[in-house]
Amino acid sequence: MSGPPSELPIAVLDALVPRAHRLVVNRRGSTVWEVESHRGRYAVKVGCPIEATAAWPAQPWTALAPGREGAVLDRLGFDDFAYGEWERGTWNFQPWHEGPDLYGLWKPCREPGSSSAPHTSVALGCVEALAELHAKGWAHGDVQPAHFIVGPERTHLIDLALARGGLVPESYDFPFRGCLVHYEAPEIARSVLATGEAEPTQEADIYALGVSLLISATGWRAVEYPDDAPRPVQREAVANGRRRPVRVPGELGDLIEAMLSRAPEDRPTIREVREALS
Ligand SMILES: Nc1ncnc2c1ncn2[C@@H]1O[C@H](COP(=O)(O)OP(=O)(O)OP(=O)(O)O)[C@@H](O)[C@H]1O
Ligand SMILES: [Mg+2]
Repeated sequence: MSGPPSELPIAVLDALVPRAHRLVVNRRGSTVWEVESHRGRYAVKVGCPIEATAAWPAQPWTALAPGREGAVLDRLGFDDFAYGEWERGTWNFQPWHEGPDLYGLWKPCREPGSSSAPHTSVALGCVEALAELHAKGWAHGDVQPAHFIVGPERTHLIDLALARGGLVPESYDFPFRGCLVHYEAPEIARSVLATGEAEPTQEADIYALGVSLLISATGWRAVEYPDDAPRPVQREAVANGRRRPVRVPGELGDLIEAMLSRAPEDRPTIREVREALS
C-alpha cells in the first residue's frame, strides 16, 4: 500500500478520541486534519513519502516532516502537542489556531480599486510571531502568508517542520532544500541552484516576511517571472534579484523595501522591524 493515509493514525485516535474531524489539506506527501476532541481542537499532520513519477523525483523527506516539526516544538518548549510514527512516515498533533491567514485576511486590499489599506496592526502581529522564534535563536525557513494565522488574541506562525536552531533527532532530520520560490531570499535560491540545499537563516526569514506582506497586500510577487515558469527558472530570477516595480504605499512600504534588500546584511532585524512598526 502507498499514498496518503485515508484515516487518522491509530496513535492519534487513541490520544485524542476525536468527536469530529475535517480534512483540511491533502497534498502529495502531507495530509492535515482539524480534529475536535474532549481535549480541545487540534491540527493533525501526517506525512508520507512522495514516490517518483515521470514528472518529479522521489521525495522521501515529506514522510519525516511532521515528526521533525514535533521535535522542533519540543525543543522550543511548546505545550500540548505530540508526535510519532505510523506505517509510512511520521505524524504530529498540535493546538488548532482559529482565524484567517494573512493572505485571506488582506483579500479586500487586493481587490481592484480597493480603498482598503493593509493594517499595520496585522503586520505587527506577524512580526511579533516571528520575533518570538528569532529571540530563541531559531530561523523558520518557510515563512509565507498561509503560515501566519491571525487569531483574536495573537498571531501564530505555524509549520515549523523546516526550522533550524537546535538539535533535532537524526532519524527525523533532513536537509533544507528551499521553500516556495516566491518567498525565497536570493542567497537561498542561489545556494539551492548550486548545491540543491541551503541553510535557513533569520535574514532569509526577514526577506520572506517582506514578500509575504507584499503579496498579501498587493497580489504581486516581488520578482518578475512568468506564472508557469519551471522552478529552476523562478529560482534563477530570484537569485538574480530581478525585482518588479511594485510596492506597498506608505511607511509599511518603505519597511518592506528594506526587508527585500538583496544583501542579507542590509535587511533589518526582526527587532528593528518591530520597532519601526510600533
Ligand atoms: N495549528 C494549526 N492551526 C490552524 N490551522 C493549521 C494548523 N496547522 C496547519 N493548519 C492548516 O493546514 C495547512 C497546512 O499546514 P502546514 O503548512 O503545516 O502543512 P504542510 O504540509 O507543510 O503544507 P505546505 O506544504 O503548504 O507548507 C495550513 O496552511 C493551515 O491552513
Ligand atoms: Mg506548510
